[in-house]
Amino acid sequence: MPNVRIKLLEDVPRSEAGPLATQLAALDVLPEQRDFSGSPASVVKRGVDDPTRRTFVILLEPPDGPPVPVGVGALHPDAAGRSVCPEPHVLLRGLSIDARHQGRGIGTAAVTQAVELAARLAPDARAVVLRVHRRNAAARRAYARAGFAPTGQRIDGPTGVEEVMVRRLDGRAAAPAGQGTAGVLGGAGAGSQAAR
Ligand SMILES: CC(C)(COP(=O)(O)OP(=O)(O)OC[C@H]1O[C@@H](n2cnc3c(N)ncnc32)[C@H](O)[C@@H]1OP(=O)(O)O)[C@@H](O)C(=O)NCCC(=O)NCCS
Repeated sequence: MPNVRIKLLEDVPRSEAGPLATQLAALDVLPEQRDFSGSPASVVKRGVDDPTRRTFVILLEPPDGPPVPVGVGALHPDAAGRSVCPEPHVLLRGLSIDARHQGRGIGTAAVTQAVELAARLAPDARAVVLRVHRRNAAARRAYARAGFAPTGQRIDGPTGVEEVMVRRLDGRAAAPAGQGTAGVLGGAGAGSQAAR
């Protein structure tokens, strides 16, 4: 298991922000993954444009040497009313790991930590919610390994059908698909906000 840590960009000291921005600008996903997520730099930019998105950097910590930024993601704690969940919740958006670092367990570790961070950032939140492209098998697998379950909701996203996944923060299991999602996800109004 790689040694991974996530860190909010707002916690990065000013003196380190410039070099970090340069490192993040050098990261990218594969061309065929652009339907799933933007580049790490574009995810960072969305966070700059909308400070309610709490952007985090994913750091790989080698046993010897300084941490290496390998990706980013964002937590959107005040997304109630804008998304697919009527309960207080946090959206996990824009998870994006550099192609050279994918497939090594970093995504799974980062998502697991993002859930813990979400609970700290939004103590009243009942769930972490995300939308994932139906064709994105790697992401669905990483989310499932981090405890997310599909709700059964499907959304017409900007680049195709997306599935909603939820990880409750209060220990309850997600409602199974087809049984409604009362108390977990409302279903109404889904689709206007891509989880990017
Ligand atoms: C999705 C993403 C964040 C996953 O990160 P990662 O570090 O590659 O994920 P992991 O290495 O933890 O692998 C997760 C699981 O997916 C599996 N996997 C990897 N590539 C896969 C593929 N092409 N098809 C199916 N499963 C795949 C892995 O085997 C692993 O499952 P396992 O633990 O049972 O072996 C990363 O691939 C990425 O940034 N992709 C491009 C952007 C994106 O899709 N973002 C998600 C937006 S919702």
